[in-house]
Amino acid sequence: MKFTSHDLNLAHLKAELVVFVLRSEDLKKGLSSKHSLSILDKTLEGVVSSTLIRSDFKTSADTQMLFGPLSKHGVNFVLTVGWEGKRGTEDYRRLGSIICATAKKLKINSVCVAQDNLDLKERSFLQALYEGLRLAKYKFEEYFSKPEDVKKSDYSGISEIKIIGKVKLSERAIRLGSIFANATCMARDLINTPPNDCTPRFLVDAARDLAKKNKLKIDVFGEAELKRMGAGGILSVAFGSDAEPYLIRIKYPGKKGGKRIAIVGKGITFDSGGLSIKTGEGMETMKCDMSGAAAVLSVMSVINILQPNSEVWAYVPTCENMINGKAMRPGDIIKAMNGKSIEVLNTDAEGRLILADALSLAVKDGCDTIIDLATLTGACVVALGLEYAGLFSNDSKLRDRITEAGLAAGEKFWELPLAPEYKANIKSTVADIKNIGTPGAGAGATVGALFLQEFVNTAKWAHLDIAGPAFTKSESFYIAKGGVGFGVRTLLNLLQNF
Ligand code: BES
Ligand code: ZN
Ligand code: ZN
Repeated sequence: MKFTSHDLNLAHLKAELVVFVLRSEDLKKGLSSKHSLSILDKTLEGVVSSTLIRSDFKTSADTQMLFGPLSKHGVNFVLTVGWEGKRGTEDYRRLGSIICATAKKLKINSVCVAQDNLDLKERSFLQALYEGLRLAKYKFEEYFSKPEDVKKSDYSGISEIKIIGKVKLSERAIRLGSIFANATCMARDLINTPPNDCTPRFLVDAARDLAKKNKLKIDVFGEAELKRMGAGGILSVAFGSDAEPYLIRIKYPGKKGGKRIAIVGKGITFDSGGLSIKTGEGMETMKCDMSGAAAVLSVMSVINILQPNSEVWAYVPTCENMINGKAMRPGDIIKAMNGKSIEVLNTDAEGRLILADALSLAVKDGCDTIIDLATLTGACVVALGLEYAGLFSNDSKLRDRITEAGLAAGEKFWELPLAPEYKANIKSTVADIKNIGTPGAGAGATVGALFLQEFVNTAKWAHLDIAGPAFTKSESFYIAKGGVGFGVRTLLNLLQNF
């Protein structure tokens, strides 16, 4: 998608579609002559302004009005988008998705956007607009049998955006937008790939592939190595599955003198619950239980382009949570890689078991900062719903940096307490800890986080419970149904400045 700016006269513009952003002050007493739409409106004999006024066009919340076809004129369609209040990066992302949807409806490839009310000198806004345009285009259609239904559309999407106005567009911002969008789409693809294909082995292949392409060092520990390493968490969860479990580690070397930061992603390629089996409905979306892994791998797929200062080591424990004669039982006591014993009282609380080993290894490897992403608990969805991820941290600076990075990325995090008062909940009478809290005591998301904390030692650590926003059954703006790719852009923002 080409992105250029042109200082053109709107009176003589030839274009299929021109987009204008309007604020309430632009429409106070008719269409303000300061807004460039007024120039075009004159050539259209006031059609646009009179309709906007007559229909009481509201500028409050991404309202849209489409005019056209205006076939006698150089401009065929006009789209007005209402904006109010202080506008941030997420508004630019959404604007991108609105433009994308309109262009798609009209099958238009080249779109002009007037720069009124936009601040595209601000790189983060330009980047976000580009991300919105790209992410809104995302489709997952690998698995349809009839390609003519889905692929043989004669519309190929927007190929060109022309900003009308005097503004120098930062190439770096556009490049970053492209990198961020690519990585997000890669995560979406991994999540959307069904669990009969997206197996632990599939994630290993994806990891090997990206490591090779980016010249990153990769270690893949299979069953035999995991036994040698004492990875009782991963091995036990995988007992009930025919698929071999793996722990993947990818290293980005950083620049000299940087810190070593670990990003860890839960990679359960399907969560049936194990013997503590889920309901049919509860299982329907459980291919998304590797969304943390998808985010971490996607971040690593572009890390060498971003070149952050710090070393970034990625850890992905991956297996299935299934049932067979060898499956882990409620009551089993297992031993994690750091030597702690765990009484497993619920086999559906499996994510924390595989993360226990991955976190232990990150600590052993000397990572001073650790961030894990996991679709860990339904309780977090109960607490925060589908828009917010839970954020737990033992370091307030890290917590603030993640919240801020998330805000710029359009990904919302909300802090939940790492409450020491509730540590007693995971005390076991027969082992060091147990994998679920006291029945009826609530705070399930916190209990999950407290469990993970047992494996991070003194590292600065944040746990992101993305069970809510990782996967969506409804589409909105630049997010299609299915895998969201949540966390990718937050991590990229964060690592860029680490
Ligand atoms: N993968 C699930 C959590 C989940 C729920 C992710 C909804 C996405 C959407 C996790 O492994 C799980 O089943 N957790 C249990 C923990 C409980 C047994 C302590 C849960 O939340 O019910
Ligand atoms: Zn589970
Ligand atoms: Zn799970």
